[in-house]
Amino acid sequence: MSYPIERVRGDFPILARDVNGQPLTYLDSAASAQKPNIVIDTERDYYRQGYAAVHRGIHTLSAQATTRMEDVRAQAARFINAASDEEIIFVKGTTEGINLVANSYGRQFFQPGDNLILTEMEHHSNIVPWQLIAAERQVEVRVLPLLADGTLDEEKLSSLIDDRTRLLAITQVSNVLGTVNPLKRLIARARAAADLVVLVDGAQGIMHGKVDVQALDCDFYAFSGHKIYGPSGIGILYGKKALLDRMPPWEGGGSMIQTVSLTEGTTFLEPPWRFEAGSPNTAGMMGLGAALSYVESLGLDNIRQYEGELMHYALESLQQVPDLILYGPADRAGVIAFNLGKHHAYDVGSFLDQYGIAIRTGHHCAMPLMAYYQVPSMCRASLALYTTREDIDRLVAGLVRVRRLLG
Ligand SMILES: Cc1ncc(COP(=O)(O)O)c(C=O)c1O
Repeated sequence: MSYPIERVRGDFPILARDVNGQPLTYLDSAASAQKPNIVIDTERDYYRQGYAAVHRGIHTLSAQATTRMEDVRAQAARFINAASDEEIIFVKGTTEGINLVANSYGRQFFQPGDNLILTEMEHHSNIVPWQLIAAERQVEVRVLPLLADGTLDEEKLSSLIDDRTRLLAITQVSNVLGTVNPLKRLIARARAAADLVVLVDGAQGIMHGKVDVQALDCDFYAFSGHKIYGPSGIGILYGKKALLDRMPPWEGGGSMIQTVSLTEGTTFLEPPWRFEAGSPNTAGMMGLGAALSYVESLGLDNIRQYEGELMHYALESLQQVPDLILYGPADRAGVIAFNLGKHHAYDVGSFLDQYGIAIRTGHHCAMPLMAYYQVPSMCRASLALYTTREDIDRLVAGLVRVRRLLG
């Protein structure tokens, strides 16, 4: 079956609009993906017909909203093949998921003199929370380095790990280079070297292929709804049940307690509810459920194949642009980072915007990676399940024009 790209594009109303008098060429999905009608309608219908506070209500609307929320939890568990729904925590996004683990697991289990391992290609979301807790707990942060081809120096992993290594935090896919890390192999290696936990940042991986957290054997996996065609402000943190059971709450409030006494203190709910303080973003959850269904209706393998062919086409086509410097390996998912000669990425991005082409420019929340390549910024075009060859052709033509203009 050929990939139904026309129908898919019709599902995303924003793709039909003009920008600066030109058809929109949206190549910034890695920053945030556009939303299909089903996501928009599900949220709207929930507010129009189904909205109520969850968990506390005895009335019908509240009970129905609660059931729907828990259904989305179960759906998310199936989506990443978690062993149980109770391993799924609703969070605001990847950033909050990682902060939860750092503040709960890290504060509880890191001891002075321990160390943890990050990689040189991490997004700031998978660096800064660890730096904060490392400073508090006097833990050393070690870094698995990049190689010139944009992959990780896998051979160095074992030498970084010792009996005080408590955690490996690693991205599934680099948000700048598109590198798909060989997680299964890396995780097996890390586990062979020490008794540590592994957190995977799935922000750039979840939308490009099937994820199976049990097959990966990671302990935590975080992703954001808005990058998988769902709403912003909602995401998922997966954690192995045995670990979540041992982790204390990191935020206090309603919905996460069993009993509260001003004299006896507070007892907490079981995971995952222990980690979900306050009134949650239920509309976001409904929208996320719709987004996961949408992606599944297309088939993650079909999406991967379609995007893979498009990536191949894009990398070939970009060869036509004089002075284009490409970063990252040939084998990649989702994103293409580049610079145009010595021109600043902001200049390139601003010109492209005039032609209706939306790309991202800057440090991409990956300053250590910029330092590795010794550049202040890069341009980044990203591909999604609705991107076409025409989008790529417009990017290439736009870049050739910009190159001519800027000299
Ligand atoms: C690899 C990676 N990790 C984490 C994040 C943070 O995601 P969010 O801002 O949705 O929490 C991003 C967002 O761009 C990302 O690309």
